[in-house]
Amino acid sequence: MYNDIEKYGENGRVIYHGDALKVLESVPNESVDLIFADPPYNIGKNFAGRKDKWGTDEEYLNWCYQWINLCIEKLKPNGTFYVMTSTQFMPFFDIYIRKKMTILSRIVWSYDSSGVQAKNFYGSMYEPILFCVKDRNNYIFNYEDILVEAKTGAKRKLIDYRKNPPQPYKTEKVPGNVWDFARVRYRMDEYENHPTQKPISLLERIIKASSNEGDIVLDPFCGTFTTCYVAQLLKRKFIGIEIQEEYFKIGLRRLNLATEYHGEPLIKEQKNYEIKHEQPKEQLTLFQHGSNI
Ligand SMILES: C[S@@+](CC[C@H](N)C(=O)[O-])C[C@H]1O[C@@H](n2cnc3c(N)ncnc32)[C@H](O)[C@@H]1O
Repeated sequence: MYNDIEKYGENGRVIYHGDALKVLESVPNESVDLIFADPPYNIGKNFAGRKDKWGTDEEYLNWCYQWINLCIEKLKPNGTFYVMTSTQFMPFFDIYIRKKMTILSRIVWSYDSSGVQAKNFYGSMYEPILFCVKDRNNYIFNYEDILVEAKTGAKRKLIDYRKNPPQPYKTEKVPGNVWDFARVRYRMDEYENHPTQKPISLLERIIKASSNEGDIVLDPFCGTFTTCYVAQLLKRKFIGIEIQEEYFKIGLRRLNLATEYHGEPLIKEQKNYEIKHEQPKEQLTLFQHGSNI
């Protein structure tokens, strides 16, 4: 376990640079309204030099069970837990968590293909999310805040003739458990330099549905701090944790918690296409002499 912890922020807007297990231990029990956990998936991604790969599946799962237990402990009795992992490990999470919480939805975040396409099997086009509550009779679900268009496929307004008198069908509905959100691409404004950044739209749905203004939202594996960023926009309080300094610095900047970190200014990296490349000197000289070669 990595032992150093740095803390920035105040008044319910706090982020930690440190190990999730260590920081979670310091959070008071039953104090958090909503937790979104998007851990390393044990599939070999490179998180700023830290390899996302455990020695064995059991080692990975044992580590996960530790922070899952802590998350459950920290949630209020009416709290909600959303948790992600890779498709191959989600069945283990499901079996483990269903003994401790009620799993209300098994969500599929579905997205379009990435550049690399599988040729020898069916490519992975989704990530699973469990939506779990501590008490199935007492939890927050603001369905009116997350309505989506109800697509009937019809060009004209459909009428429900079973109603008396007949009425037009509702044009909005509560989303089902298959969510279509584009992945974060390099050219998108929200893009940060991280291999598994989650989209703002995904966190917006989760936070709007499962918390109210002023509630505390916690993310133990912040990456680019999308959860805290959206929580802040939606006037929620937040606790964010990230072990890698590179990503912690993104959080400080994205959340306006600091303009510099240990003397280093926090400035968003320019994208390749935003950098104006200098013209080669030779060409400049020719232009200066009025040539149009
Ligand atoms: C899947 S990513 C999270 C991405 C994030 N949801 C986002 O939108 O950017 C997992 C993150 O967990 C961090 N991490 C790995 N082990 C950790 C630990 N023990 N404590 C805290 N963070 C950790 C990694 O550095 C990585 O940024």
